[in-house]
Amino acid sequence: MRLADRISRVEASKTLQVKEKALELKARGIKVVDLTAGEPDFPTPSMIGDAGIEAIRNGFTRYTANTGIPELRKKICQKLEKDNGLKYSPEQIIVSNGAKQCILNALFAVAQEGDEVIIAAPYWVSYPEQVKLSGATPVVIDTSATNFKLQAEQLKKHLNRQTRAIIFNSPCNPTGVIYTEQELKSLAKILIPEDIWIITDEIYEKILFDDAQHFSIASLDNLLEKSIVINGFSKSYSMTGWRLGYAAGPLPVIKAMSKVQSHYTSNASSISQKAGIAALDKASVEIQKMRKTFEERRNYIRSVLDGNEYLSYVNPQGAFYFFIDISKAFGAAVNGKQLSNSVDISTFITENYHLVTVPGVAFGADNYIRLSFAAAMEDLQAGMTKLTEAMKALMELKRSH
Ligand SMILES: Cc1ncc(COP(=O)(O)O)c(C=O)c1O
Repeated sequence: MRLADRISRVEASKTLQVKEKALELKARGIKVVDLTAGEPDFPTPSMIGDAGIEAIRNGFTRYTANTGIPELRKKICQKLEKDNGLKYSPEQIIVSNGAKQCILNALFAVAQEGDEVIIAAPYWVSYPEQVKLSGATPVVIDTSATNFKLQAEQLKKHLNRQTRAIIFNSPCNPTGVIYTEQELKSLAKILIPEDIWIITDEIYEKILFDDAQHFSIASLDNLLEKSIVINGFSKSYSMTGWRLGYAAGPLPVIKAMSKVQSHYTSNASSISQKAGIAALDKASVEIQKMRKTFEERRNYIRSVLDGNEYLSYVNPQGAFYFFIDISKAFGAAVNGKQLSNSVDISTFITENYHLVTVPGVAFGADNYIRLSFAAAMEDLQAGMTKLTEAMKALMELKRSH
């Protein structure tokens, strides 16, 4: 029996080998330190949970409007105006089952076969695969030589008549970099005259360190009409399992996204929507506490990495990941096999040091591994000791080769 062509275009997870190794160790009763988490390790703040429970108790458990309940959409408008300087009416908001669905809705609404969608690498794993699902072709621009930030000249070089959209992500998963207002302005200059959509994924906007500030590229002159702003509750409010995200944009594109969603999943969970209102209304103190804890962990890991001559990184100013250059270890040989990419190194560290990380190839950058600090301090301490020992061993193996 045949499967659709689109399935063969979409790649299976590149992190499978490492995951399988970790599972095998766990099955043998070996304790592993798993620093792969893409979600906060904190419980959802209690006032948010309470709002969900109240929704169930009140029987608020039926289909809602496809684009979300008016009260939530109104609150999202207020949030976007207050935090990001973006003015929308509630009809310009669509609430979905996570930001992931919002991005897919957006791509289905604007891109198709023959179109190109620009993605800066390192990128979040789902962007290229979602672009392929829409029928369009991902065009990946490597930013590793410029501190993981897309440069205006690079962007200009990749634009052509097929370009239909760019996916933009600040703060970025996996690098933690944040674009400054000035940097966004230089990209905006290139984008303003173009007839392309800017899908701006701002899901980590509340997890910022030092004095970093988040700017939405959509807030820059003349870009609002081209932008689809994506955000959600998973990361900032520790609500990954509630599956709640939203998008804002010009009315025609939101209507198109609503059409897609109406035949796919319909509305996001009614219970989660009520919880989302409580998150926006009542959880600001809790999200600050989580942010502060992330910052302490970031500072700790940075202090260990700074003392390691074999590992380099770009300081994350947001999100909860370190993207670490491990390429100095390439060429080390184990049992006659040369380790030459991020899967090899990540698998070696898992197998021999019982520390699990995500190989950078999953994010389009094979010289790196991603380490998440959405984990307890004691795990981070154990993990950093293991990483230090593993790199030392790899460098010795390389020298003795
Ligand atoms: C950059 C980025 N965008 C979107 C998402 C999806 O978030 P959600 O849980 O809202 O679907 C993630 C989750 O890992 C992410 O890292």
